Amino acid sequence: MNSYFVIGNPIDHSLSPLLHNYWFKKYKIQSEYKKKKLEENDLKDFTNDIRNNHSIKGANVTVPFKKKIIPFLDELSKVSEITRSVNTIIKQNGKLLGDNTDATAFEDTLNDMKYSIHEYGRPLTSLIIGAGGVTSSIIFAIEKLNNAEGTYYIMNRTKKNADDLALKNLPNVNLKPKVLDWGDIPKNLDIIINTTSVGLIKDEELNLDFSTYKGSKNTLFYDLIYNPKETNFLIDARKRGNKVMNGKMMFILQAKKAFLEWTKVDVDIDDEVLKLLDND
Ligand code: ATR
Repeated sequence: MNSYFVIGNPIDHSLSPLLHNYWFKKYKIQSEYKKKKLEENDLKDFTNDIRNNHSIKGANVTVPFKKKIIPFLDELSKVSEITRSVNTIIKQNGKLLGDNTDATAFEDTLNDMKYSIHEYGRPLTSLIIGAGGVTSSIIFAIEKLNNAEGTYYIMNRTKKNADDLALKNLPNVNLKPKVLDWGDIPKNLDIIINTTSVGLIKDEELNLDFSTYKGSKNTLFYDLIYNPKETNFLIDARKRGNKVMNGKMMFILQAKKAFLEWTKVDVDIDDEVLKLLDND
């Protein structure tokens, strides 16, 4: 039996096994997908296990290892190279390739919602909130959706982390975001994305005032969190009359892309998959 893993710490909450094992069963692929909780000093042994054990075919990487895994891999895809973030490990002729399917998944969801320079005929103005592990993927996607034109912003509770991420740690991102002070919300934004962990625990609230967006029908509030389904960030946006999107489709699409790379099977996103992730 071939195996795949998702590694992280903590890992109990991960819903990736639900998706991948559902698809293995549906497409009659003899494989299983398991969670593995690791410490940072286990990463070297884990990557050697993938290299040496023929039944291990690949892995996903989640918080807090998306960056820390990089030194133990042999090659990086272009997206991983630019974002310095790996969420998928692919085994190719005994070598380990790191890829980032988060960035393309996020980009695809915005394209599907027609939030792109091609649909608007102008770059969209975005605000990215947070400067954590997933934020570099969002920066990459926003730059791409805008053909590296226009202006976009980033804001983080600890401003220095946003400065470091946006201006120092992503040398291959051509269009840099403007770093704002916390709470300094620009007017006329098209997309506002929460990439922080605030909202994972019910009732947690970002301490930001978006009241100037009351009635802005076309402004999209996008929260990468999908469990709970609707964070306060999205509840408030819905009440203000804004467009809202949670992180469920991005999560499914990043898994779909990893599955395709591992198995060459391009899965359908059926109703059952959409229901699998609804647990609140
Ligand atoms: P991960 O890699 O899991 O995303 P992280 O690197 O700790 O985790 O990033 C979490 C993000 O959520 C950071 O942007 C963090 O802001 P800081 O850089 O100031 O720590 C943000 N965050 C966490 N709790 C927050 C809170 N109560 N209010 C605002 N931002 C918060």
